[in-house]
Amino acid sequence: MAKAAAKKSIAKKPPAKKPAARTVKKSVAKPKAAAKAKRDMKYYFTVKDSVRVVQDRVGPKADPRGKYMFNTLVKHLHAFVKEARPTMDEWLWGIKFLTETGHMSTDWRQEFILLSDTLGVSMLVESINNDKMSGETESTVLGPFYIENAPHYPNGANICLDGKGEPVWVHGRVTDAKGKPIPGALLDVWQTNDEGFYDVQQKGIQPEMNLRGVFTADKEGRYAFRSAYPRFYPIPHDGPVGKMLGALDRNHNRPAHLHFIISAPGFQKVTTHIFTPDCPWLNDDVVFGVKESLIADFKTVDDAKKAKELGMPNPFKIVEWDVKLAKA
Ligand code: BEZ
Ligand code: FE
Repeated sequence: MAKAAAKKSIAKKPPAKKPAARTVKKSVAKPKAAAKAKRDMKYYFTVKDSVRVVQDRVGPKADPRGKYMFNTLVKHLHAFVKEARPTMDEWLWGIKFLTETGHMSTDWRQEFILLSDTLGVSMLVESINNDKMSGETESTVLGPFYIENAPHYPNGANICLDGKGEPVWVHGRVTDAKGKPIPGALLDVWQTNDEGFYDVQQKGIQPEMNLRGVFTADKEGRYAFRSAYPRFYPIPHDGPVGKMLGALDRNHNRPAHLHFIISAPGFQKVTTHIFTPDCPWLNDDVVFGVKESLIADFKTVDDAKKAKELGMPNPFKIVEWDVKLAKA
């Protein structure tokens, strides 16, 4: 009986199938595909082809400008790594440095901008985007101490609210590139005091809005105000950027300057400074903001009549600084 059942089951067993054509193909083709993939550096990372391998991962739906930026960054970043050849510890140090830079950044303290400034990147971006070809006033960095809505003053007003420091008379004209006046142009001004501090760094010590103001050019494009001779000052250096500057034996000071933003309808707004000519840090600005055309000629005037005319104490400093705006 058991024999018969066994016989039956043998008889019922389907004939062994021929292997499917696909299976046969696969088993023959697999080593070839693997070999091809191995040869194809589009997929596998090598030091030699690292840039292309990473760039090739960008998909067809990527934004073209974003793709271009990413690919250019990868190209230069890989070139840096291949040239500098960081050890694993050095790479990790870099990661920690960037992490600390992020942790230090708040709404009030932008450590990444400070890093960009001290690497010369802010000035490079600013300069390539504001290439003044026809003698218009050159621009420079904005910096972190600008405050919107400073008080508007009439021409000739004194923005030095605590009366400290050496008095300066600042005046000039705002014109187009051909010298035609721009009446109504706005000049937004801010600067440090004679000890190198902005009002926002000395709350309770300096009056609020000290050494800040907005002036309007008159019908001949003229502006004028009284201020105090500024002093050089260190950029905030209690974070990773300060540590970097220390480790590189770099100066952390900015040379003395007055900040301006000058704007007028129909013209390009310019963010700039004027630098005092006798500052010891003029040739070593930590953020590379100095341009030769922005070093102004501050003179000392000792003339009681002129002082009285301007409502200044005698002697005083004077600087004439004309601004030329480019058409929008
Ligand atoms: C400034 O001039 O106010 C400034 C610019 C860049 C970094 C820090 C300060
Ligand atoms: Fe400044």
